[in-house]
Amino acid sequence: MSCSALFSANISASSVQYRSLTIKPTNYFSACLNVDVCAPDSNQKGFLQEKRSAEIIADEKKFIVGTYARAPLVLSSGKGCKLYDVEGREYLDLTSGIAVNALGHGDPDWLQAVTQQADVLTHVSNIYYSVPQIELAKRLVASSFADRAFFCNSGTEATEAAIKFARKFQRFSHPDNKEPPFEFIAFTNCFHGRTMGALALTSKEYYRSPFEPVMPGVTFLEYGNTQAAVEVIKSGKFAAVFVEPIQGEGGIYSATKEFLQSLRAACDSSGCLLVYDEVQCGLGRSGHLWAHEAYDVYPDIMTLAKPLAGGLPIGAVLVTERVATAINYGDHGSTFAGNPLVCGAGIAVLDKISKPEFLADVSEKGRYFKDLLVEKLGGNSHVKEVRGLGLIIGIELDISASPLVDACRECGILVLTAGKGNVVRIVPPLIISKEELEIAADVLTNCLPALDNQVGNK
Ligand SMILES: Cc1ncc(COP(=O)(O)O)c(C=O)c1O
Repeated sequence: MSCSALFSANISASSVQYRSLTIKPTNYFSACLNVDVCAPDSNQKGFLQEKRSAEIIADEKKFIVGTYARAPLVLSSGKGCKLYDVEGREYLDLTSGIAVNALGHGDPDWLQAVTQQADVLTHVSNIYYSVPQIELAKRLVASSFADRAFFCNSGTEATEAAIKFARKFQRFSHPDNKEPPFEFIAFTNCFHGRTMGALALTSKEYYRSPFEPVMPGVTFLEYGNTQAAVEVIKSGKFAAVFVEPIQGEGGIYSATKEFLQSLRAACDSSGCLLVYDEVQCGLGRSGHLWAHEAYDVYPDIMTLAKPLAGGLPIGAVLVTERVATAINYGDHGSTFAGNPLVCGAGIAVLDKISKPEFLADVSEKGRYFKDLLVEKLGGNSHVKEVRGLGLIIGIELDISASPLVDACRECGILVLTAGKGNVVRIVPPLIISKEELEIAADVLTNCLPALDNQVGNK
């Protein structure tokens, strides 16, 4: 089926008002060329907007520090799982702004919470108390292993806070020891952020090496290698072990129950803290509110961020009372963190996602989509594995995934890469429908020939 056939079939099926796509010609995927071209208004306006997109991209190259290799797409609005570029083309979003927009774009309850709160009070700093911050903390505590929450503004800040809390905990727990355990363990393929402490815990050397020396004392072990981890943790020199129950950036690798249980036991007997990074896999994405619930093994500290405020910047560190006891006034803080606006948004997001029926729906859609992908893509020689839990899914290829991701984008479907660039990462809004997942599976299938055009790019 061509892209145009796919789109028109589903326009009527879901009665969604798809705008037509303008697809640039590619050598390898002529099926995309069949997509109807119909500018939202006149051709003239379409042309002017096209120019606008090119101008915006040119200005970005001129005025923004060049840290991002962006896809050539200028997005201007979104609704539900759809995004629209400045030329009016519609895209089905299976990226969620990198696992952020769990409720999709412009969720009405989220919007109401944000506009009402903005109308009343946005920011006061942490010099004073404010109601939404305490309410969000109460809800996070009630729905998790934790006794207390600390708020920050991003995933990397959550990692930094967890590093400081772990160090402080060890100092507090070893008052007579001049050098309490201060080192950390992290794992292959992990990603914990890009600020200096978090960067030290991030496995990809490419990210770290231009900025060395980073925080010393980090040992990287093989993700899933229980024996090696237990052996190393035993030494007693580690303040904490950082682990993602499901690795996102690293290529969608899930831990096993046995691995997490062994980490838990080894940490308990050596006095080391167990930190789960659920910045990407947490908050319903796995079909469980917290990904670690799938394994029934609990941490001392958990970091959160991405989806918690539905697209506003937030991070959180959840801790047990035992850890919180070691933290004093002035040990950490942030001007913006936990302000009434982001916490008001966070309450709306958490209230919706934590409903058992919402989570069951994520699990069911995840299973359905994974089965569909295995059925449709499994026979292709480039596809090595389809894996993941809930709506965090990876398609591992034997080759770079970029041509497939680019071809999908030209056909109106947005997906990400992960791992060493050889994994298609799919993290759609959790509200995505089965019909939308079917469209995505069909477009991915139809775009597979894009992979055959890679020359010596394994
Ligand atoms: C597991 C994990 N931890 C931490 C981070 C860093 O989050 P942020 O980009 O908000 O700093 C990310 C970002 O992708 C992540 O996936």
